[in-house]
Amino acid sequence: MKFATCAAALASLSLFASTLAAPVAASPEKPQQTKEEVEAERQKALARQRNKYFHEPGGGHQLGHYDARFFHGIVSDQERHETQLTMIRAYLDYFRENDLDTWLAHGTLLGWWWNGKRLPWDWDMDTQVSGATLHHLGQAHNQTRTKYLSTDGQREREFLLDVNPWIWERERGDGANIIDARWIDTSNGLFIDITGLSETHPDTNPGVWVCKNYHRYATSDLYPMRETLFEGAIAKVPYAYDKILVQEYKEKALVVTDFEGHAWNMNQKEWIKTQAQIDKEAKEAKEQAAREAAEEEKKKKDTEMKRQAAEIKKLEDEEKRQLSQKKYDDAQEKKRQEAEAKRNQAEEEEEEVQQEEE
Ligand SMILES: *[C@@H]1O[C@H](CO)[C@@H](O)[C@H](O)[C@H]1NC(C)=O
Repeated sequence: MKFATCAAALASLSLFASTLAAPVAASPEKPQQTKEEVEAERQKALARQRNKYFHEPGGGHQLGHYDARFFHGIVSDQERHETQLTMIRAYLDYFRENDLDTWLAHGTLLGWWWNGKRLPWDWDMDTQVSGATLHHLGQAHNQTRTKYLSTDGQREREFLLDVNPWIWERERGDGANIIDARWIDTSNGLFIDITGLSETHPDTNPGVWVCKNYHRYATSDLYPMRETLFEGAIAKVPYAYDKILVQEYKEKALVVTDFEGHAWNMNQKEWIKTQAQIDKEAKEAKEQAAREAAEEEKKKKDTEMKRQAAEIKKLEDEEKRQLSQKKYDDAQEKKRQEAEAKRNQAEEEEEEVQQEEE
């Protein structure tokens, strides 16, 4: 098993070759790091990448939310919205139909708390399962692909359930494999992160469930689960959802009604994008368009310059060709004249000989 898991992790390594090449900078707090320390850190980062099962096309706010294998570019807000809606419904239906225990977690749970929907600014979607369910997923559901009609009825989407081979290791380790499984939209790479909760120390810490990212939950906070609706599909949330949310996000997450460029509208029970945010996005889009236009212009100029250079080269080549043709013609002419001179001389000599004979 151990070998097989390593092989799988290695197989996906090539996806990250570019990241590996990036040098590991010494952290600014430790300016007097020795060469050996820097190298040791680099080796650690390399090992971490080697062990990592799921890969993203990049880090950060946007690229970190795509699975590298299915990424073809950042999608529009509209496409993300549509993907996430269909994705979570397909997920919840699949898990319910297959009797797999799962519930909403983190930002997805917070979105549910407000209005039974995802937070419109959230790129993440998170669910949790028990360790037992996770192992069952790995054995019986890994790599299943589920087709699901998108919520706008426009197209069929396909979702891949991919289970991390490191699920058998329940400690955090180097942190490269804290996500246990993913439910991935195979058309664009967006996904739901699935993490398992395990009782890692049932002897010393019974009834305490942890994920690999050190979130901990008491059995009585999780169970019995409450059945509810999320984005129109039947879903489950932990029994003490409010306690869990306050622990993770503090009271303010349940109170503050201005967040990430959205304001809570009490009557509509919706997060509405603020005018300031709309203006900001419009400005960013304009700047982006200007950047692209400038790039296009530069490309055009480069192409034109290349074309002119090619034209000049063609003229020069033609000139060279004519010059060498002329040299050749001149040489031929010279040879012809010499031959003629020789012939004339021979004729003259012939004539002289004849005259002498007469
Ligand atoms: C799930 O399937 C992938 C692809 O075959 C494999 O690499 C991975 O190890 C599997 N996960 C588990 C838990 O067996």
